[in-house]
Amino acid sequence: MYVCICKGITDKQIQEAVTSRNTNNPKEILKALGIGSDCGTCVEDAVNTLLEQSSRTPMEMKDSSNNS
Ligand code: FES
Repeated sequence: MYVCICKGITDKQIQEAVTSRNTNNPKEILKALGIGSDCGTCVEDAVNTLLEQSSRTPMEMKDSSNNS
């Protein structure tokens, strides 16, 4: 299912990015995939998809949201 129409990003691609980057940090994943960089209407759905996917991913997540 497409999450970001402008960039043609699917929920599967988000899942793959979470797994390959070993992070569920929304900013990092969205930036890496270019999600929200055009019209921006997909950001909320993309973050929800990301959090949903990462909660199902059986691996230790590195939360880098506190990095400055
Ligand atoms: S739908 Fe994602 S930037 Fe437009």
